[in-house]
Amino acid sequence: MKSVYITAHGGPEVLDLRESPDPTPGAGQIRVRVKAVGINFADILMRMGLYPGAPPPPFVPGYEAAGVVDLAGPGVINPRAGERVVVPTNFGGYADTLIANAAEVFRIPDGKTFEAGAALAVNYMTAYLALVEQGHLQKGNKVLIHSVGGGVGIAATQIAKIYEAEIFGTASSSKHDFLKRQGVHHCIDYRSQNFEKEVMKLTSGAGVHLALDPVGGSSFSRSYRCLAKTGKLIMYGFSAASTGPERKLLNTAWQWLRSPSFSPFDLMMNNKGVIGLHLGRMTEQKEVFATAMTQLALWWDRGKIEPVVGATFPLQLAGKAHDFIQSRQNIGKVVLTIQ
Ligand SMILES: NC(=O)c1ccc[n+]([C@@H]2O[C@H](COP(=O)([O-])OP(=O)(O)OC[C@H]3O[C@@H](n4cnc5c(N)ncnc54)[C@H](OP(=O)(O)O)[C@@H]3O)[C@@H](O)[C@H]2O)c1
Repeated sequence: MKSVYITAHGGPEVLDLRESPDPTPGAGQIRVRVKAVGINFADILMRMGLYPGAPPPPFVPGYEAAGVVDLAGPGVINPRAGERVVVPTNFGGYADTLIANAAEVFRIPDGKTFEAGAALAVNYMTAYLALVEQGHLQKGNKVLIHSVGGGVGIAATQIAKIYEAEIFGTASSSKHDFLKRQGVHHCIDYRSQNFEKEVMKLTSGAGVHLALDPVGGSSFSRSYRCLAKTGKLIMYGFSAASTGPERKLLNTAWQWLRSPSFSPFDLMMNNKGVIGLHLGRMTEQKEVFATAMTQLALWWDRGKIEPVVGATFPLQLAGKAHDFIQSRQNIGKVVLTIQ
């Protein structure tokens, strides 16, 4: 089997394709021949050594893949060899062969592609938990979504549309036409415009009910100031830590220092909420996960949500895929494919 390793902390060149013997599934496990691997921004932060909780190099990154079951271990009745499945992974996903617990994979519906399967779990789960579970999104709410052109951003847009929300999104200007067609009502180019001023102008000073912010640093304070009274800020990332393909710890530290401390007095006087979200630290909430997955599967089946796969790269070109995302060219999910 082939896997892409992060061999050291650094730029995209530290990614290296390595071979090892094919694994054999144990009791309750299946072996999957992978066709598509979803890239998440967290993989990039891990490569740069900026992701808390990642193992030390060398290790194989990757949280999600999709492929075909080719071998079932003892005791496995479902899924059977030949079935198409999505495989959530806790690291290790950048590979052409995976071993998974049979109970943890889910079937890809007929008519859906492997690429879409590999683009679903992390992005849509994060967006659902932020908007619905933690944000308590209500019909007609005003929602600010940062990095709205990325995988989570487009997932959040599609879910917010189901709730008939008015969507304000920040993204590089080259993505605005596409995003408007996706349903973002107000696209803001955060690189040339002050998004806080734009949001307040567009809402006549009222602000938004919900702000989804994975950028971090000073963006958290500015998003907080965009909130209407009783509004909530959901913080779920720190992409500001990545200031280019190489690791620049001083720049990262500077972004970290610009993160706000929220005043309890201000929170109380304005009935505002500030909430953190980390998908990986939510997995023990099994009921929450099951409800979210059931709802997402239903919406996917009914065509209410559909992952946008913006670009694909062969597995061995994972470094180029990272580069593509870090230079902010992606619209939607970037997926690695295996022929
Ligand atoms: N907490 C969780 O459980 C969780 C789960 C999933 C994702 N996340 C976080 O959510 C964010 C989005 O993830 P994703 O996988 O959807 O991202 P993605 O699809 O890889 O999108 C990356 C996009 O983010 C925007 N961006 C903003 N600041 C950036 C920076 N400093 N460097 C590079 N790109 C930057 C760029 O688009 P524009 O220039 O057009 O804005 C870029 O194209 C990340 O911060 C990620 O860590 C958190």
